[in-house]
Amino acid sequence: MSKNILVTGGAGMIGSNITKKLLERGNNVIVLDDLSAYPFDYLHEFGVGQSDAEFIKGSVLDKKLVRLATKKADLVIHAAAYADVGACIRNYHEDFTVNVEGTQNIIEESLKRGVTKLVFVSSASVYGENGKTIFSERDACFPVSTYGNSKLWGEHQALLFNQLHDLPTAAVRYFSVYGSPQVPKEGSHSWCVAIFAMLILNKMPIKIFGNGTQVRDFTHVSDIAEGTILALERDEATGYALNIGTGKPTQIGTVAAKLFEQLGSTPINYEPHPKGDPFGAYADTKLMKSILNWEPSMSLDDGIKEYCNWVRQNTHLIPDWL
Ligand SMILES: NC(=O)c1ccc[n+]([C@@H]2O[C@H](COP(=O)([O-])OP(=O)(O)OC[C@H]3O[C@@H](n4cnc5c(N)ncnc54)[C@H](O)[C@@H]3O)[C@@H](O)[C@H]2O)c1
Repeated sequence: MSKNILVTGGAGMIGSNITKKLLERGNNVIVLDDLSAYPFDYLHEFGVGQSDAEFIKGSVLDKKLVRLATKKADLVIHAAAYADVGACIRNYHEDFTVNVEGTQNIIEESLKRGVTKLVFVSSASVYGENGKTIFSERDACFPVSTYGNSKLWGEHQALLFNQLHDLPTAAVRYFSVYGSPQVPKEGSHSWCVAIFAMLILNKMPIKIFGNGTQVRDFTHVSDIAEGTILALERDEATGYALNIGTGKPTQIGTVAAKLFEQLGSTPINYEPHPKGDPFGAYADTKLMKSILNWEPSMSLDDGIKEYCNWVRQNTHLIPDWL
């Protein structure tokens, strides 16, 4: 049966993928987004502007607007965030307001308006440096960035509202997301697939922190969107924070080599790790598989090809500052 689903941040890179999938499944989608993330018209470049989603331009910090948007919704995916680790470290106050206060507004209004399920979008950055190379939901979290800390707070708050106020909630911890339409943000050191691909297309050297042996669990955005929607649809996910990842570690150097195969090679400059950049790990996917009865299906090779094809057709989105 078709549902009314609010997607905050639904115009963004991941949100636009979630919105499109929800529409394909026959739902009514309401997008609340303040369009603050990129310096170009991404409502249209990322496709939500041309879709059947109802678009509300505004901030999750605007309580009246949040009330209006949640009133229309049976279900909520809260993906809006100040979504860049480096920017959150530099602009810690904005991190706090958008990612903490904005999240509180969404949780509170979801409870008051009788929303029947809320999924909070979290991140593997909640784990930080815990000395492990595989992150399980049972592990203690030691975030090393203010971004990771604000995400951990959001998860706890969402899950506490389930325990204390019977608002059905779940949280999804994304591992390194890549795929179209990813465009790097100025000053960011996240999103290496996009940064490397765009630098290579510009015939410029790429920059690798350390010696390139650090790992990430690269998860294609189509799988990220699917896992998030399943966490919303499945009652079994209520009350859980779930990893969404492939369960496979990939070294940064390997990603660079795969991109060179697709786009031609450029020199590599090796530099020290910046602060707040963890050595990295991959997802323990046992809980995700058992609760969602699902696992990601896009291979890294296919995902990188998908992104390279998209970026070749969208070179106008390669930022000048790169
Ligand atoms: N990309 C990743 O690797 C990754 C990893 C883990 C978690 N996440 C999380 O996934 C979600 C989506 O991130 P993304 O990668 O698509 O980034 P994005 O910047 O493309 O999307 C975030 C969206 O939120 C919107 N937004 C920001 N502040 C807002 C506000 N105050 N009110 C309303 N809308 C606001 C932006 O305009 C943007 O459209 C975020 O919650 C992010 O923290 C992303």
